[in-house]
This record gives sequence, C-alpha cells and structure tokens, in this order.
Amino acid sequence: MIHPEIEKRKTFAIISHPDAGKTTLTEKFLLFGGAINTAGAVKRNKANQSNTSDFMEIEKQRGISVATSVMGFEYSGKRINILDTPGHKDFAEDTYRTLSAVDSVILVVDCVKGVEEQTEKLMAVCRMRNTPVIIFVNKMDREGKDAFDLLDEIENKLNISLCPLSWPIGQGHTFKGVYSIYNNHLNLFEADKTKISESVVEVNDLNDPNLSNFLKPKELDGLKGDLELVDGVYGQLDKSMYTEGLLAPVFFGSAINNFGIKELLDTFVQIAPSPRSREAEEREVKVDEKNFSGFVFKIHANLDPKHRDRIAFLRVCSGKFERNKFYYHTRQGKKLKFSNPMDFMANEKSIVEEAWPGDVVGLYDSGNFKIGDTLTEGEQLKFKGIPSFSPEIFKEVENRDPLRTKQLEKGIQQLTEEGVAQLFIAQPGNRKIIGAVGELQFEVIAFRLEHEYGAKAHFRTLSYGRSNWVTSKDKKKLEEFLKRKQQHIGEDKDGNPVFLADNDFMINMTMRDYPDIEFHKTSEFK
Ligand code: G4P
Repeated sequence: MIHPEIEKRKTFAIISHPDAGKTTLTEKFLLFGGAINTAGAVKRNKANQSNTSDFMEIEKQRGISVATSVMGFEYSGKRINILDTPGHKDFAEDTYRTLSAVDSVILVVDCVKGVEEQTEKLMAVCRMRNTPVIIFVNKMDREGKDAFDLLDEIENKLNISLCPLSWPIGQGHTFKGVYSIYNNHLNLFEADKTKISESVVEVNDLNDPNLSNFLKPKELDGLKGDLELVDGVYGQLDKSMYTEGLLAPVFFGSAINNFGIKELLDTFVQIAPSPRSREAEEREVKVDEKNFSGFVFKIHANLDPKHRDRIAFLRVCSGKFERNKFYYHTRQGKKLKFSNPMDFMANEKSIVEEAWPGDVVGLYDSGNFKIGDTLTEGEQLKFKGIPSFSPEIFKEVENRDPLRTKQLEKGIQQLTEEGVAQLFIAQPGNRKIIGAVGELQFEVIAFRLEHEYGAKAHFRTLSYGRSNWVTSKDKKKLEEFLKRKQQHIGEDKDGNPVFLADNDFMINMTMRDYPDIEFHKTSEFK
C-alpha cells in the first residue's frame, strides 16, 4: 500500500511549441482548480529575442514571484503540482531538465499548425524517460485541420499510438464544445475568457433528449458518426500503455474559451500517474521508502543584486522531507538543514513543515547546489535522468575588463551552475567555452554578468555546432584520442571529456576513424 499522501499527488508539466496555448491552459487549470479567480494571473514568460532588457524585466518579475515555477492546488481530493517551463525555445534545456522532475506531461498542439518543431523535440525527451503523455489539441475555435487528419499527423510525426478521450463538436465558427468519451458526458460552457461559468448543459449520454436543445440534428448526427468511427479505429484506453509512455490519450478543446478543459482536468486526475519509484546510479529508489531522498532540477537566481541567495528547486522522490532536519548533500559530503523551505500553492509561497514524494520544495541556497545534486538521510545516491544535451551554439568567453577577472570567473561559474548555459573548459589555457541552444542565452549571460557581477565579457563565435560526450572501454585509446583531437576537446562541469564538432558529418567521420571511442549525445550514458 502506497501512502495516501503519495497517491494523491499528481506532478506534471504542460509543454508545447511556443504559442500553442501552454500558458492559457495552465491558467485555466488554476481557474478550474479554484486556485486563482481571474485570468491574467499567470505571467506570460514570452520574450522577444531582439529585446534582452524586456526579457530580463520579465525574468525579474518572475524571479520575485518564483511561485510561478511551481503551481500547486487541490482538485478532486488530489494535490496537483504544475511545474512551469519557459516559453522561449532558447530555454529548451531548462524545460528538458524540468521534465526530469515530473511524473507525466500534457503536450499542447495547435489545431491549425499541427505538430511543430518544438513539439517533436519535447516528445523525444519524454520518450527518453518513458514519461506518460496526454495530448491536448487546442484552438478548436479556429478553422484548423480536420480532427482525424490531425490524429494521423500526431501519430506519425510523434511516433506514438493515440486514444481520443474527448471529441470536438464542430470546429472553427461551428465549434460548440467537446464530448467526453472517457466519462460519457457532455459539458457545454459559455465561451468566457476570464472566468469559469457554470456549465450550460450537462448530459450523461448521446441519447439525452436535452441535447437537441443545444445541438442541431446535423451536429448531433455528425458527433454520433464521429464517435462510432473513433471507437472502431482507436478503441478503449489501455491505461498501462499510457503509464508506460506507449500510448497518448488525446483531448480536444479551446483553452481560451474554457472548452474541453474540465474534461481534460477531470480525466487527468483519474488516469495520470502518482509519483513512482526512480532510478539512481546505485539502485532503484522506491517511492514509499521510509528515508527521504530528492534531487535539485532547477536553480532560480535572485535577480536582485542585494540578495544574492538563489532558490534551488528540489523534487522529493521518497520518504518525507521535514523542515529543520539535517540532510546529506551527496556530492559535497556534508550535512545541511533548511529552516525556511518553501511550498508553492498557486501564486503564493509559504514555509512548509513537510513535503511528500511528488512535491517540489524551494530551498534558499547560498551556492551549495548544482543542478542534479541529491539530498538523502545519509546514503550515497545520485539520481539518474537529468542529462545535459548537446548545445547548438558555442562561443568562447573573452574578458573585456581585466580588473574584474575574478568577478567574471565567479559569474560564469554561478550562471552555468544555475543551468543558464553549459560551460566547457578547453586546453591549453583553460579557455572557457559556453554552449547554448539559442542566442538569447548569451544575451542573458552578458546582461547578468554586467548587472550582477560587474564584469564585462565578449562572446566570440566558434564553428562548433555539436558536443558529444566521449568514453572508451580502452583507457589508453581514449587518452590517445583526447590528445590527438585536443583542439576539439572540452571538459564539462563534471570534468568529463566532450568532443566539440562542427556538425554531424564531422562526428560520423570521427566515429569511423576511431572505432574504439564511444560518442554520446547526452551527458548520461551509464
Ligand atoms: P504559449 O504559452 O504556448 O506560448 O501560448 P499562450 O497560452 O500564450 O497562447 C498563445 C496565443 O494563443 C495567445 O494569443 C492566446 O490568447 C491564444 N490562444 C490560446 N488558446 C486559444 C484558443 O483556444 N483559441 C484561440 N483562438 N486562441 C488561443 P496572443 O494574441 O499571443 O496573446 P493574448 O493577447 O491573447 O494574450
């Protein structure tokens, strides 16, 4: 028997290609959950690449209300924890890391645009960890692709089996709402962008005579025909396939109009997995073990230079976290206790006395934590599943103010520990190479170096476009390779050697030339 406190937790992230409706859906969940009263409370974290100060302004506001990083609320007897992910594609790595701390995800797809570039990338990350995925097809109030065609596209591009659990009634200007296949139930809401109105009609099946007051005979016939086809093609939900990440339930709706959200949320609380056991390098850590364990997946800087504290976000994996109790920091081998751990309920943060698996606790940190650090009650553990991925842009740091060298070093160290970008040290000369997914990350680093550390740096673009972690069973062969390719080698944050290449072609050629060397696309290859 799993402890009821663990069983009731549903920790997940809403992810999407920018603009598909992630923020709107998050907000509507909070509205339905009664955690907020009006729309507009969730800060949009959008940024225009050409405007860094605008971006930093948004970051500052978000920094002050770090509560937006985790939004907890109670719904239907469950404790729901939504982990926020950045909207901008240049911060995709942050999103990938946050996905290590969730038990499932809701992936939002725009019905007009279908599967987009970021949708595919995010799905690939979910597949790496077999994270259960629910798909929400949004913006059904717009003239988009036909629902059946969309399902084909999603199935093919995302390479996952689907099972629709709700179905749209009409689309675009004829869109009336959605029918819940899973609960055999129809809720028709009045389109309302700012609050949740009472449902206009509730029926329990398609033969309810009340339906004809709201749907024209043609619409009702269309819905019945569609549902027969859906049943024939997709059948019933196989829950175990969903929890293994092999099958994605699909919902349709319009987040902005509140259509399909309740169906999604109600079904989500029924089928989404509660926290499960997790793999550490040493062993599997069972979720209901007595001893506490957890790991840091995100570090949030306090952007106010007067308060240099950071907040480390810790996901509880087993046992019970308690305030003012000493825990063992496994990388540093020292004991730490936290007198003000934070809990996040919707838009408020408060000091928490205890937290359970699935919960995220915010810990004030003066520089003890790196992403991926593990806390336990004394056991040496390191949780798996928090890899670094290959960046796409590489630049060498050049110091522009020799009198502030120390500050620059500290700034680069701290910012990369926070996960803003990856740092590689290259020889000779301990050169610092920063790897990032997008240009905006470099702008943010330059901005923060200047404003928080008083250091000035210039980033010189390098020709690299890929990093592969290299290992070999033959120690000598690896040493030889590292020597021969010295100008292409960097060391990552943990001191592991990384081969920096211009493109995949160069990697493939090198792989061919050095068959004894293994090349890894992520930092986690054990
Ligand atoms: P994101 O977090 O995934 O980037 O998307 P976000 O929720 O910010 O939504 C992107 C845009 O799509 C917003 O419009 C939002 O209002 C709109 N949107 C969300 N859901 C729906 C829907 O169901 N139907 C339609 N038609 N639009 C939807 P915007 O103009 O960028 O912002 P705003 O001015 O509306 O805030």
